Amino acid sequence: MSKGTFYITTPIYYPSDKLHIGHTYCTVATDAIARYRRMCGYDVMFLTGTDEHGQKIEEKAMAAGVDPQTFVDNIVEGPGGIRALWKLMNISNDRFIRTTDDYHVSAIQKIFKKMYDKGDIYKGAYKGLYCTPCESFWTESQLVGGKCPDCGREVHYAEEEAYFFRLSAYADRVQALLETPGFLEPASRVNEMINNFIKPGLEDLCVSRTTFTWGVPVEFDPGHVVYVWVDALSNYITALGYCNDKYDDYDKYWPADVHIVGKEIVRFHSIIWPAMLMSLELPLPKKIFGHGWLLLEGGKMSKSKGNVVDPVLLAKRYGVDALRFFLLREFPFGSDGNFSNEALIARINSDLANDLGNLVSRTVAMVLKYFDGTLPEERQEAPEDGELKSMVLALRDIYEANMETYALQGALMEVFKVVSRANKYIDETCPWILARDEANRARLATVMYNLLETIRVCVSLLTPFIPESCGKIFEQIGAGPKDTTWDKANVFGALPANVTVRRGEALFPRIDMAKELEELEKLTAAPKSQVEEELEKGAGLIDINEFGKVELRVGLITQCEPVKKSDKLLKLQVDLGTEKRQIVSGISQWYSPGNLIGKKVIVVANLKPAKLRGVESQGMILAADVGEAAKVIFCDDDTPVGAKVR
Ligand code: ME8
Repeated sequence: MSKGTFYITTPIYYPSDKLHIGHTYCTVATDAIARYRRMCGYDVMFLTGTDEHGQKIEEKAMAAGVDPQTFVDNIVEGPGGIRALWKLMNISNDRFIRTTDDYHVSAIQKIFKKMYDKGDIYKGAYKGLYCTPCESFWTESQLVGGKCPDCGREVHYAEEEAYFFRLSAYADRVQALLETPGFLEPASRVNEMINNFIKPGLEDLCVSRTTFTWGVPVEFDPGHVVYVWVDALSNYITALGYCNDKYDDYDKYWPADVHIVGKEIVRFHSIIWPAMLMSLELPLPKKIFGHGWLLLEGGKMSKSKGNVVDPVLLAKRYGVDALRFFLLREFPFGSDGNFSNEALIARINSDLANDLGNLVSRTVAMVLKYFDGTLPEERQEAPEDGELKSMVLALRDIYEANMETYALQGALMEVFKVVSRANKYIDETCPWILARDEANRARLATVMYNLLETIRVCVSLLTPFIPESCGKIFEQIGAGPKDTTWDKANVFGALPANVTVRRGEALFPRIDMAKELEELEKLTAAPKSQVEEELEKGAGLIDINEFGKVELRVGLITQCEPVKKSDKLLKLQVDLGTEKRQIVSGISQWYSPGNLIGKKVIVVANLKPAKLRGVESQGMILAADVGEAAKVIFCDDDTPVGAKVR
C-alpha cells in the first residue's frame, strides 16, 4: 500500500557547458533519496531537467556560431549530453523538463500575467549591478570586494526599462517561513538568509529584460523576456501541469516534499520562489535542502577556471556505482567537501572492495565450497551470533532516521558498521575450521545463513545508492524480489533455509593506488587549447601557407536589416562580384542598416556556413575590436568588388 506521495526535485541545470562531478553529486544524491522513498512505499515523483534560457546561453551559442535552440538541443539531447549523463549514472527521474518545451513557455506567460494582474508585477526602470554569468542583479552592499558574491566575477552597471516583482511586500511572510523549523535545512542556512537578505530589506525584484531575446517573451509586452529565474523556478509546477495541459498531476504532487539545491541557489528557492507562490496563492514547498559544494583544491569547480572533473571518465573507469557511492559516502550532504582522485580510490578500495566486496565474495565462495551452493536446513545457534543479529535487526531504524534527515553519509556509515561486523564474524567463527569436521555441519550452515541474511539486509538498504551492484549481489546470494523489500529489511530469516547461491563476477576490484593516480593524472590533465598548442608548436606564428587558407575578398553591402528577435544581429546581403552572400553579423549595437548599405567591406569568403538565430550566415565581415565595440573595416570606394585581399 502506498504511504502517500513524495515529490522531490533537483535544480534544473544550465546547458551551457558539459556537466561536471559537482552537478552529478547533486543529481545522484537526489536519486538516492527518491529511490529510498520508493523503497519505503511512497508514490514518488522525481523531477529534473534543464534551464535553457538567458543571456549566458545566448552568448555561448553566438560564440559557437549556432542559434541558441540548436546549441541547447545539442548539450541536452546530443551524444555525451545531459540526458545521456543521467542515463549513464542510472538516475531514476520520473520526468525531465526543458524550459524551452512549448508547454512550459506558455505556462510561464500565464504565470507572469497572473502576478501582473494581481498587481504584484509592475513596470519600472532597473538601474543596478548585474553579473552576466550568474544572471543576477546585485546591490552594492551585497558585492564581495566589488565583485559578484556568487562567482567572484566582475559585475557591470545596467539600466533598462523592466518589470518588477513586489518581493518587498512578502518580506514578513517569507521571514516567518524561513523561521519555520524544517523548512530550510541544514538549519545553519536559515540565519544566512535572514541576515544577508531579509534584514537589509528585501528589494523588489527585476523580472524582465529587454537587452536580449533568448527567453520567454512577456505576452503583453513582447520587447521584454521573463527573468530567467522566474522562468526556471516555475518549472517545479509547470512540470506537473500547472497552467498547461501537458500533464495533470499538479493536484496529486504539489506542494513539493523537498527541493534539493546547491547552497548558492538557496536564496532563490527559499525567498524568491515562496514569494512567487504566495503571489500566485499556491501552497509552499515543504522543504528546501541546501547541499554543500564539491571543491577541488579548496575552490569551486567551474568550466571557466578549467578545474572541472569529468564524471563520465570516472564512471567508465571505476563503474557508475563506485562513483555514486563515493560521492554520497565521502561527503556530509549539507557541507562542502574536497574532491580528490586519491580519496575516490581509497574509498572504493576500503569500503567497496575490502569490506562489502570481500564479505559477499567470501560468503558465496564458502557456501559453494562447503555445501555445493545450497545450504542444508539444519541449524545450530551459538551465543556469538547474538551481536551480529541484533545489529542487523536494529539497522533499518537507524538507517531510516538518517535518511529522513538527509544524512546520506550517516546512513551509509551505519550500513558499513554492520558489513564490518559481519567480516569480523567470519574471523570469529572460522568457518574453515568448522568445515574440517562433518559434526559441525549444522553450525557451519548457521554461520553461512547468518552471513547471507546480513548481506541481504545491508544490500537492501544500499539499493538506493548503488542499485545495479545490489541487483547483482542479490542474484549471488539467492535473494528474490520479495526478500529485498523495505518490510523485510528489519527481519532476520527472510531467505529460505535451503537457499542457493550463485558464483558471480567480482563486483569491486581493488585498485592499485599509485599506478592509478599516475594514469588519472595523465587522463585528466587539462587538454591544451588550440591556441596553446599552436603557441607551443610555433611560438604563435603561422606560415604563409596557413594564412593563404583564409580567403578574404572585398564585398559590397547591398541590403541590410535587423535579425528578428535579436538586438545584436544584422542580416547583410553582400555582393562578392561573382556571387551574392548572406552574412549575419553581431554589430547592430554600433551600426544601423543606413550606415552600411553601399559600403565595401572585407569578407571571409571560405568560412563554413552557420546559423545564427535560425538565419544562415555564409561568411563573416572583418571588424576591429575597440573596447566593448566592433568597428567594421571599410574599403575605399574605388576598391573593386570581389578583389582578393592578401
Ligand atoms: O544553478 N558541487 O544551474 P547550474 C556541488 N539553472 N554542487 C554543484 C557544484 C559543485 N561543485 N557545481 C554545481 C543553476 N553544483 C540553475 C538552477 S533551479 C530552478 C535553476 C550544483 O547548472 C549547483 O549548486 O549552475 C546547483 O544546485 C546545480 O548544480 C545546478 O547548477
